[in-house]
Amino acid sequence: MKLILGIETSCDECSAAVVAHEPSRLTVKGLATFSQIRLHQPFGGVVPEVASRNHLETVNPMIEQALKTAGVGVKDIDAIAVTNRPGLVGALLVGVSAAKAMAYALKKPLVPVHHLEGHAASLFLDTPALEELELPLLLAVVSGGHTNLYVMKQPPEIWPLDFLKRSLVGRSRDDAAGEAFDKTAKILGFPYPGGVWIDRKAREGGNPAAFDLPRALPQKAILDFSFSGLKTAVSLQAEALRREGKLDERLPDLCASIQEAIVDALLSKMWLAARQYGCRTVALVGGVAANSRLRARLDSEWRAQGLSRAPLFPKPEYCTDNAAMIAAAGAFRFQQGLQVSGRDLLSLNAVANPEI
Ligand code: KG4
Ligand code: ZN
Repeated sequence: MKLILGIETSCDECSAAVVAHEPSRLTVKGLATFSQIRLHQPFGGVVPEVASRNHLETVNPMIEQALKTAGVGVKDIDAIAVTNRPGLVGALLVGVSAAKAMAYALKKPLVPVHHLEGHAASLFLDTPALEELELPLLLAVVSGGHTNLYVMKQPPEIWPLDFLKRSLVGRSRDDAAGEAFDKTAKILGFPYPGGVWIDRKAREGGNPAAFDLPRALPQKAILDFSFSGLKTAVSLQAEALRREGKLDERLPDLCASIQEAIVDALLSKMWLAARQYGCRTVALVGGVAANSRLRARLDSEWRAQGLSRAPLFPKPEYCTDNAAMIAAAGAFRFQQGLQVSGRDLLSLNAVANPEI
């Protein structure tokens, strides 16, 4: 068994976790996350400078708390895993610097982790998914920054270094799905981040067919997404309702219709890709995987799509950004020998926009 300390500061969550890695099993022993959402809310989005300053204050307390919950000391840790790409560079640097300092002082190996690999690995935390995995797997990473479809042909223990590049089969050409939720929610006056508010309002009896909103790129040959047109359509619709004084009363219907447009777009491409690549299972990770309508529709439609197994989701607490998923991805990479240590640590850096 290996104990991995994970650190995540790529955006607006400051998180540390201790994860135990046994063959085919990843168990979260301790997880501490400080969400900066309330700090950014007055600005309607994440302010990079505010994010990095706050990470500086919270990263050490989060590490201490994660170790304490796990009931272990730093000396018991086998490796430290940290998100070093992609993200806000100032925010990433805080986690990377903390991890490098710890690794150097304690003579521990350090594993740099790609944030999206972390989301992918979140599937395997505290579940038997690793043992039961049926490949190929269609993996949708759907977050505030990404809407990517991957076809995973290998188990995570042997993911090649460039697996995110090699297995990418579809992506958003403009806004990410989470961004589409957040931007349309902002138009309707909801606080940042708006995805969860749209989800909640739609559940107040909203009719998903009430408003006819656009679904871009319907062509079957295309596995990409486009969400930018939705913003304009919602903005025009909201303006019309406002003029009639009906926006408040129609809000559940409008939210349900927005949600349905995004969910329809995601599912139609997921099913197409699954069929095209002969996938046996589909999986959904990232903040938008917490969406209740998306989960419900995946659950009710997978059989009709000819899949052999129910869709996989991470536990809800591992959908949004957290360090347990970084520790999980780090554990797989550590097993492959992809750690950095000693003087090599000095050259490890944060990368805002890596090529992959
Ligand atoms: O993965 P994540 O925490 O951060 C990124 O890496 O981007 O995802 C955050 C995104 C936000 O856009 C947020 O609105 C969305 O996930 N989100 C939701 C829900 N919960 C979070 N979107 C729709 N429905 C939800 N229930
Ligand atoms: Zn994320």
